[in-house]
Formats: sequence, structure tokens, C-alpha cells
Amino acid sequence: MDAYHVAVVGVGAVGQEMVRVLRQRRFPLRELRLLARTGREIEIDGERYSVQVAAPEAFEGIQIALFAGTEGEKGAAVTLAEEAIRRGAVVIDNGSDFRLDPRVPLVVPEVNGDTLADHRGIIANPNCSTAQLVHVLKPIHDLARLRRVIVSTYQSISGAGGGAVTELEAQVRALVAGAPLPPFQNIPAQLAMNVLPSCWRFLENGFQDEEWKMVAETRKILGEPDLAVTPTTVRVPVIRGHGESIYLETERKVTVDEARAALAAFPGIRIIDDTSPTERDPHRRTAPTPLDAAHRDETFVGRIREDPHAPNGLCLWCVADNLRKGAALNAVQIAEELIRRGLLGSTA
Ligand SMILES: NC(=O)c1ccc[n+]([C@@H]2O[C@H](COP(=O)([O-])OP(=O)(O)OC[C@H]3O[C@@H](n4cnc5c(N)ncnc54)[C@H](OP(=O)(O)O)[C@@H]3O)[C@@H](O)[C@H]2O)c1
Repeated sequence: MDAYHVAVVGVGAVGQEMVRVLRQRRFPLRELRLLARTGREIEIDGERYSVQVAAPEAFEGIQIALFAGTEGEKGAAVTLAEEAIRRGAVVIDNGSDFRLDPRVPLVVPEVNGDTLADHRGIIANPNCSTAQLVHVLKPIHDLARLRRVIVSTYQSISGAGGGAVTELEAQVRALVAGAPLPPFQNIPAQLAMNVLPSCWRFLENGFQDEEWKMVAETRKILGEPDLAVTPTTVRVPVIRGHGESIYLETERKVTVDEARAALAAFPGIRIIDDTSPTERDPHRRTAPTPLDAAHRDETFVGRIREDPHAPNGLCLWCVADNLRKGAALNAVQIAEELIRRGLLGSTA
């Protein structure tokens, strides 16, 4: 089997998870090069790695560059992706800079892996909330064509990066100790013992940019430019794993059994929806929680039920690990899919 020279750019929450995923999936590595703003030694799961400064020359000889740096004009992908591609690498970017560029495939391999064939050197990984949403929507869409989707998210703090996780932990410790909260840096307000429905940038239409990413990216990935998607994104005091309450309407009625069968047969989806009451607690039902999804690869689905008020309406709940399916795992799966389809090195 061929083995590849791989770079991971950024060694924060997502970059470190990428290293873990590459190792756990036994990705065929000839070399793993870690790059970040500052060079240093780091430890991931007890193993030491040296991190080099991310400069254009650092991509010499790299075939796959997994980007997990910051976004925007001065971010890693905008400043360095072209340099990596020029040196022969295929770039898989976790940030939002290229996701809506019509020349860049935006990919969840189980959903639209076929669009990788058109890549010109850069492939975008969707926003974490979008990745698990389209993963769940696709089998239902294939079954009965979606007409509309209303989704509310329960997003964990690791979605905001490693610094935000440390800050939430400090908030919790301060509250428990009865001490003043630490200054707000990565989190705009008190999240410990609270939920924040307005912690992203607001757009003129009243939606937050996180919500609009879900609209535009879902449409692009499903190839449905007019699909009605209405999200509300909320940050919750969870470390890892995003939950989503999804309401959807389809062109024809989909029964719970049909939905369950289609979801269960779809790669990467696992249903936890035990509706058989136990003798001890006849009212208890089992549904997946962020703790069930943390450090796991599957997108978990539960609470599948028909809407009693709309003939073609279906409600469900899903959870996935935002650092894995929402970021690192999906990026590595894209790299695996490129290899499987013989698409490495096919840059225009
Ligand atoms: N967290 C999630 O669930 C999630 C999900 C999907 C997508 N994403 C996206 O993935 C990216 C990384 O997120 P994160 O949560 O891992 O962030 P993070 O924990 O804040 O880590 C950012 C890392 O990027 C490095 N970096 C920043 N600017 C750079 C530059 N110009 N050149 C090279 N390296 C640079 C930093 O280097 P230093 O360590 O040297 O400072 C740091 O290691 C972001 O674009 C984010 O939007 C995150």
C-alpha cells in the first residue's frame, strides 16, 4: 500500500484531534509534519511531536495538507493553502474561507463524496453543526425529498477552540468556589450553568453567522440551492459533542419505521432510540447524549417521531462529536476517499 507525506496545520483542538484520528485509523503515513504559528514540542496522548513554523517552505514534499488553523485574511488557509498546492499538496481545509467558493467541493464523504472528482487542489470541510445535520438529512432526502428543515443546536464549547474549553472549565471552578468569574476572552458571557443563544456574529437579517453557515452549506452539500433551512444555534456548557433538534418536512409522508430503516442503513449513523419501556421505569426512553457521542465517530440519532400536526413532518434528535465528525474525522475521511478514488495529485 502507498504511504503519504501528510501535514497538519494548527495544533489546537482540531489539529490535535486530527493527529489522533490519523493514528487511530492507521492512515498510511510516510511522514506526519505538524505546523503552527510557533515552533515547539508538544505531547499528544503521551507521544511527543515537534511542531515547525507554518511557512511556505514547510510544505515541500507534502502530498496531503490538513488545515486546522485560524480563519480569515491572516488565517492559515488564506495565507498558506496556495503555497501548499503549488508544492504539490492537496489541501483539506477546516475553516470557512473556501466553503462557499463554487470551485471548491464542500464534502461529507458519505453524503457527496462524488463531488471530490472536481477538486482543483483544495477541498473544504463543513462547519461542525452542518456536517452532522447533512449526515442525518441525506438518507431522508433520498427517501422522500426534503421540503423544509428547522433545526436548533445545542453546541459544545470545544467548537470554539481549545482556549474556550479552558475558559469554561475556569468559569465552572470559579462558580463552585463562589469566586468571581474570570475575564471573558473566548466566551462572551457566563456559560457555566447557562446557555447562550446569541454568542456568534449577527447578520443584518437577524440570524447569526453560524446559523447562515448551516443554511448555505447544507444547500451546497445536498445540491439543493433553494432548500428551506431555518436554524437557531445555541452554545451550551458541554465540553464535547453537539446536539441538534431537527424538524423536517418531506414531499411525501415518511413513517418512523421507514426513517429508522433508512438511517440505520446509512454509513456512519447509529440509532439509539430504545422505545421499549422497562418494568422499573415505564416512562423512560433512551436517546443519545453528548457524552455518548464524545470521542466516537458515529452520528447518533434518537427521538424519531412523526409530527401530529403536519402529515409529512418528522422530528428527531442527533448528536455527534464536533471535533471528530464535525472536523478532524471528516477531514481524514476526505483524505481516505481521495486515495480510494485515485484523486490525489490530480490538481488542475
Ligand atoms: N472546534 C471545532 O469543533 C471545529 C469544527 C469545525 C471547524 N473548525 C475550524 O477548525 C479551525 C481550527 O479550530 P480549533 O478549534 O482547533 O482552533 P484552536 O484550538 O484555537 O487552534 C488553532 C491552531 O491554529 C494555529 N494557527 C492559527 N493561525 C495560524 C496561521 N496563520 N498559520 C499556522 N497556524 C495557525 C494555532 O497555532 P499556535 O498554536 O502556534 O497559536 C493553533 O495551533 C478553525 O478554522 C475552526 O473554525 C473547528
